[in-house]
Amino acid sequence: MRGQLLASALVSGVMAARPFLNSPDTGIQLVLGDLPAGKLAKLDSIIGLPDFDWAAEHYLPDRNYTYYRNGAAGEYSYRNNLEVFHRYRFKPRVLVDISDVESTLPTTMLGHNVSAPFFISPCARADYGSSSSELGLVKGAAEGGIIYIPSHYAHLSIEEIHAAKAEGQVVFQQLYLTSNDTVTQQEIDRSEKAGADAIVFTVDSAADGNRHRAARYGVGSADSDYSAFTWTYYQKLQKMTSLPVIIKGIGSVADAKLAIKYGAPAIVLSNHGGRQLDDSPSPLEVAIEIYKEAPEVFKKIEVYADGGIRYGGDALKLLALGVRAVGVGRPMMFANIFGTEGVAKAVKILKHEIAIDAGNLGVADLKKINPSYVNWTPTNWAN
Ligand SMILES: Cc1cc2nc3c(=O)[nH]c(=O)nc-3n(C[C@H](O)[C@H](O)[C@H](O)COP(=O)(O)O)c2cc1C
Ligand SMILES: *[C@@H]1O[C@H](CO)[C@@H](O)[C@H](O)[C@H]1NC(C)=O
Ligand SMILES: *[C@@H]1O[C@H](CO)[C@@H](O)[C@H](O)[C@H]1NC(C)=O
Ligand SMILES: *[C@@H]1O[C@H](CO)[C@@H](O)[C@H](O)[C@H]1NC(C)=O
Repeated sequence: MRGQLLASALVSGVMAARPFLNSPDTGIQLVLGDLPAGKLAKLDSIIGLPDFDWAAEHYLPDRNYTYYRNGAAGEYSYRNNLEVFHRYRFKPRVLVDISDVESTLPTTMLGHNVSAPFFISPCARADYGSSSSELGLVKGAAEGGIIYIPSHYAHLSIEEIHAAKAEGQVVFQQLYLTSNDTVTQQEIDRSEKAGADAIVFTVDSAADGNRHRAARYGVGSADSDYSAFTWTYYQKLQKMTSLPVIIKGIGSVADAKLAIKYGAPAIVLSNHGGRQLDDSPSPLEVAIEIYKEAPEVFKKIEVYADGGIRYGGDALKLLALGVRAVGVGRPMMFANIFGTEGVAKAVKILKHEIAIDAGNLGVADLKKINPSYVNWTPTNWAN
């Protein structure tokens, strides 16, 4: 009996869930804890992407911060997006000459040169975090040499955002569509005329997002229609524009395969940052499923992924599976409380972390990272 109790205590000890840490404790509270609420931290004091979240929570009115921070329902997907990365351990290799790894950061997205394998995901309403609104994001992306995808529900207009581009800057335009084709054609024409290099068609919000946290402040989901769109509509959409139409919000192997069948040039594995369907899988989980069940998907089209990427190592795990570039949403919106400088710093931080983490993993050339660098059997939480 005693032995049994001890055994079950041990088992429950091993299985005990760790408390969720939105911003893991790396000492920011010790250094900045005395900063009065409503005050903006010094940009110099920001060390990693989670620090931008801390600074925004400290600085912004609760309503504004909540709009960005919110996840769907009990926020299980929101938390899982962040935590799931840490259930997979690296398999580092040593004594590899990685001295040139930084020079291997640049890649291409649909043929466009980018300085690193990540981009800024489309997030609505940058005015909740900054008076310069989307300008900080478009300019920060230019400075960092990465692609920005403005949201259709941005504060500034499509024209205003694209007009702020640097020369030659590549910007993809996200669109939310309705069943009114006249309006859709207008929005596409505006995007083309403004100089968008691709359309990003978001498909993971077919119905309203169930947003408890945000609803408390009246900043819940904006789209209230039940969508009637099908793959046939996607085909029609492709005929309405000469631009490539990327599908954002793929959450299953079956749909990744359908995207190929219907001629998508690229897809974004995404659960909308855990803001739509709670318990939808994280992009990492979907990428692992694709790797196991249909690895050819990564070769046939460009696969991007977003949700929960906060560290260089997170990006590396997705890249290892064959994801071409990863998107960063909330951290960029939080970095934008510092405007262009903040966004540019966020880009710099992630580039540096990807390079040094790749180095410590023994990856000399990021293009050659592959699934063998990660143990794809998940560990449990007690560690
Ligand atoms: C405040 C906010 C607004 C968003 N608005 C949009 C949007 O307008 N269109 C869209 O396709 N995705 C939208 N998303 C989803 C993001 O593009 C992206 O999938 C998600 O933020 C990635 O997760 P991360 O925030 O953990 O990086 C939004 C996300 C946030 C946090
Ligand atoms: C993209 O990069 C390649 C290789 O570095 C280079 O040859 C090409 O000119 C670049 N294209 C643009 C548009 O900058
Ligand atoms: C908070 O959001 C509102 C838009 O709802 C905006 O007008 C205001 O400037 C934001 N506050 C800050 C500090 O950015
Ligand atoms: C579609 O939008 C156009 C332009 O706003 C409008 O004139 C038209 O009445 C709309 N059609 C329907 C069926 O609602």
